[in-house]
Amino acid sequence: MRNRLKIFSGSAHPELAKAICEYLDLPLGKMDVQRFQNDNTFVKIRENVRLCDCFIVQPSCPPVNDGLVELFIIMDALMRASAKSITVVMPYFAYSRSDKKDQPRISITAKLVADLLQTAGANRVITMDLHAEQIQGFFAIPVDQLLAEPVLCRYFQEMGLEDIVAVAPDAGSAKRTRYFAKRLNVPLAILDKRRRGNDDSSEILHLIGEVRGHNAIIFDDEISTGGSMMGVVKALLENGAKKIYGAVTHGILCGNAIDRFRDSPIEELVITDTVPLPPSRRIPKIRVLSVAHLFGEAIKRIHDGTSISALFEH
Ligand code: R5P
Repeated sequence: MRNRLKIFSGSAHPELAKAICEYLDLPLGKMDVQRFQNDNTFVKIRENVRLCDCFIVQPSCPPVNDGLVELFIIMDALMRASAKSITVVMPYFAYSRSDKKDQPRISITAKLVADLLQTAGANRVITMDLHAEQIQGFFAIPVDQLLAEPVLCRYFQEMGLEDIVAVAPDAGSAKRTRYFAKRLNVPLAILDKRRRGNDDSSEILHLIGEVRGHNAIIFDDEISTGGSMMGVVKALLENGAKKIYGAVTHGILCGNAIDRFRDSPIEELVITDTVPLPPSRRIPKIRVLSVAHLFGEAIKRIHDGTSISALFEH
């Protein structure tokens, strides 16, 4: 029945789509995506998808809004071509930090994106490490949230680092970091981070736990500007930590984040390939681990109708 399983890639991350196809031993679905001079996007599916389970790989990384609109148009084309089901494979879900109305007169954009995906025809979403797990509830369709935890932890286990403390950069990430600490069998420390206004800056107020004399691994769901991570590194060094590593699922690394890491006392930043990091932006300090096999396995099991819960067990 593999001829009824089709993988398509938007423009956001063709390398990941290719790696997923290699895992599944399937060719990438044939599709044209082009922009007219008036900036309108045109999509044409170039193979039969009737009665097929179609999966579209499109993390919502910068340029976020362009990628989302392109995804909606691909979904619409598949729906009108009589696909049996449409699954959005969105390893990184942008706007996930906009998940609540915690100020007057702001939008809950993650909910809006969830609504738009469903309106465009999504029957299911596969993602990884949402900023807030509750975002699954913004959808009235199944959302499978995979975890980068086994891939990131295995890397540090194989490194053989000793005297580790797992560091949560803010209270919101404490629960998630506790899972890493448990898997690595190491103690946990939590930082109390406060954001200043609506720009990208933040400050560290308190440290809970012992980091002195330990090698610290900071676990976070995403790095955007790197500002939070730099604040955490500074606080850890002031409190006597030895070597410092970062383990982050989504390496957005926008603005001057790469330069910040190059110049920082951090030993290594380990990220995954949920979003692309072009060769021109790679530096020796940043290690990229692939999670394509996890997405490939999830797609295979969804298509076969077998359980995927093993892929999101801590
Ligand atoms: C926020 O709460 C997230 O978990 C990350 O800490 C945040 O997105 C990182 O952003 P930046 O790198 O811009 O500080």
